[in-house]
Amino acid sequence: MQITVLPGDGVGPEVCSEAVRILRALNSFYNCEFEIKERPIGGVAIHATGSPLPESTLQACLNSDAVLLGAVGAPEFDNLRREQRPEAGLLRLRSALEGFANLRPAVSFKAIADCSPLRRSRVEGADVLIVRELLGGLYFAEPRGLAPDGMSAFNTMRYSVEEIERIAIVAFDQARTRRKKVTSVDKANVLETSQLWRRTVTEVARAFPDVKLEHMYVDACAMHLISNPTRFDVILTENLFGDILSDEAAAITGSLGMLASATIGGPTNLYEPVHGSAPDIAGKGIANPLGAIASVAMLLRHSAGMPHEAADLEAAIQNVLNAGHRTADISGEGREHVVSTREMGELVEHAFVAMLDRRFAYHAV
Ligand code: NAD
Ligand code: IPM
Ligand code: MN
Repeated sequence: MQITVLPGDGVGPEVCSEAVRILRALNSFYNCEFEIKERPIGGVAIHATGSPLPESTLQACLNSDAVLLGAVGAPEFDNLRREQRPEAGLLRLRSALEGFANLRPAVSFKAIADCSPLRRSRVEGADVLIVRELLGGLYFAEPRGLAPDGMSAFNTMRYSVEEIERIAIVAFDQARTRRKKVTSVDKANVLETSQLWRRTVTEVARAFPDVKLEHMYVDACAMHLISNPTRFDVILTENLFGDILSDEAAAITGSLGMLASATIGGPTNLYEPVHGSAPDIAGKGIANPLGAIASVAMLLRHSAGMPHEAADLEAAIQNVLNAGHRTADISGEGREHVVSTREMGELVEHAFVAMLDRRFAYHAV
């Protein structure tokens, strides 16, 4: 498989190196071929070429089997016009890859449940999958702009039935592999787009009689998500609501550094941790690479056809946490062993290879 790796800015390259370590470990274990090419995106690409998504990066992504991204964005670009910012490169890439379904799981691990600001009794057992629509809504719809006098600005929230149907189908399909419940989140008490959303999701649900559907307003969802996270299975929502709720869901896991994502539905899937470039900790070697590594697990599942290895990698992450190893963001005040980004990557790699060894030994007898 051809994998294009886009490390990007800030902690992006730091966490990406650890994610790539896992692919290389698979290469040497199975003698398989993840062919890895790195390309610039975001702020580093602006410095190198003037564009946040150079044509050669875009072409490499379009010609690969999967794309793995670190993060983009840096304070030095915060005052640029929207189209010139590092984030514009990522949004252009998402739309070029055509993946409309962004899967963002948030799982509370027993070993780090005390890292959540919420009580252990509230978060333990929480396992939520946010299915975020990624190519529509306020992010992409036209018209948009700043009035010539600079005194007003506007964006458009627009959804078609077709866009809602296809993301709803992904959510119901995912729910079938889990606890068979979809919470569709909208603002149907105020927005026409949300009324269309609710009507369309209700229609789609008829083809999934085994899945329970509930509707919830986004403001109430923001509250229920942290007061009772275990009540959720799959949360289906539009682009901006999904962006906000997924960072909120990070509080259930203990750190934004824990969250992975997969964007599916187009010809080439995109894998990226949910967090950004974290300028406040970049360059220190302390970022949590587990979200990026868990994104590789999603790549193994959704692009490489390696579901057993994906499960092994997820188990390896849990084993390392169970053994008490922590990056700074998930270190409590207890007896944990605090490690760097690289050390965490190495620990997961070793645990993963040990799991692969066991699988191999099992198949050999
Ligand atoms: P952020 O996600 O970068 O950071 C928010 C907080 O979480 C910070 O305190 C940070 O230190 C912490 N954090 C994030 N990732 C972590 C990790 N792996 N380990 C430990 N702690 C981690 O969000 P922000 O500060 O609002 O944004 C910074 C920049 O990143 C902005 O330019 C923004 O546009 C961009 N951004 C990019 C992406 C992406 O590339 N997918 C996502 C979100 C934000
Ligand atoms: C995310 C990020 C992006 C988004 C930004 C960087 C464009 O916040 O992936 O969650 O808003 O989708
Ligand atoms: Mn976000």
